[in-house]
Amino acid sequence: MEASRVVTSALLRLPPETAHRGADRLLGLPLPWERIGGAPRSDALGVDLAGIALPNPVGLAAGFDKSCRRLDALSRLGFGYVVGGTITRRPRIGNPRPRIARIRERRSLVNAMGLPNPGADVVARTLLRLPRRGPRFVSIADEDLADALETHALLEPHVDAIELNASCPNVSWGRDRDNEEHLAALLRAIAPRRERPLFVKLPPFRTDVERDVVLALARIARDAGADGLTCSNTRPVADARLASRAGGLSGRDLFPDTVGIVAEVRAATDGALAINACGGIASARDALACLRAGAATVQIYTALVYEGPALVGRIARGISAARPSTARAGLG
Ligand SMILES: Cc1cc2nc3c(=O)[nH]c(=O)nc-3n(C[C@H](O)[C@H](O)[C@H](O)COP(=O)(O)O)c2cc1C
Repeated sequence: MEASRVVTSALLRLPPETAHRGADRLLGLPLPWERIGGAPRSDALGVDLAGIALPNPVGLAAGFDKSCRRLDALSRLGFGYVVGGTITRRPRIGNPRPRIARIRERRSLVNAMGLPNPGADVVARTLLRLPRRGPRFVSIADEDLADALETHALLEPHVDAIELNASCPNVSWGRDRDNEEHLAALLRAIAPRRERPLFVKLPPFRTDVERDVVLALARIARDAGADGLTCSNTRPVADARLASRAGGLSGRDLFPDTVGIVAEVRAATDGALAINACGGIASARDALACLRAGAATVQIYTALVYEGPALVGRIARGISAARPSTARAGLG
């Protein structure tokens, strides 16, 4: 068994947040992360994402590195890009614990972290001194418009793109209509100031009502000049193991919806925006299904927790092997 698999199994025996802290500490060690991740360097894997040249289309989703201190090591695992955060203007401690629970048999998680993070000033300083090994994005979210603009201004100079988290189930901007208004106002305010690509991360949908809400947000993002969309964040569920009794579902349980969501959002926005698929992606086959549905890239989080870092290389190699057929489908 490879060493990273042994470490991953050991971490999975610990309580989820302890395991996450352990993984975070390990990422701070000077280990050969390129070899551990094992992603190939191949021109065939390169992607242009809203003008950003990515070495491959496999991204790390937001929330894994909430302080952005490990983006360097995570890039070295071979991700095509990494998304740090979500970061808010002021530091937040997040929700009371326990706030992550595993659904091991379904390779899923429920979390109600509530965006713990060190705040935009600290993260700007972290990003300034961190070596830049590959494309890095940062996810931002603030309920208050002025705060969101300041967070954007503080962090944008240090990253290749910003991902606006318009979808955290643990931090609400209000009811659905308020959400639409808030997103429109925020994008209108950011548009004249921004210098780098802007992505909007949307919630997933399942029912017709949810679909209408999400597609409305997608069109607002398009009309306000966003460069791309990340589809999607976690899905709200009840879970009595969490202190808050509810949280966001991630992992395999989301995948049955992910490919369809990508296709529907793409159609609803007339293919005008790049789409990053996210939600339960755990293999090259899953990634390819999303790319064939029109996604430019994929993002992973929960599968990394269950499978360990060698998953990055496995997905990238699988995409590389299938590239000729992807290209034939007009997406290569
Ligand atoms: C513990 C945990 C924390 C997360 N924190 C964030 C976050 O801060 N911002 C965000 O946009 N998404 C966050 N997410 C959502 C992931 O980025 C991703 O959208 C979601 O988990 C679905 O992808 P996956 O099934 O590959 O995990 C978090 C997910 C988990 C499991």
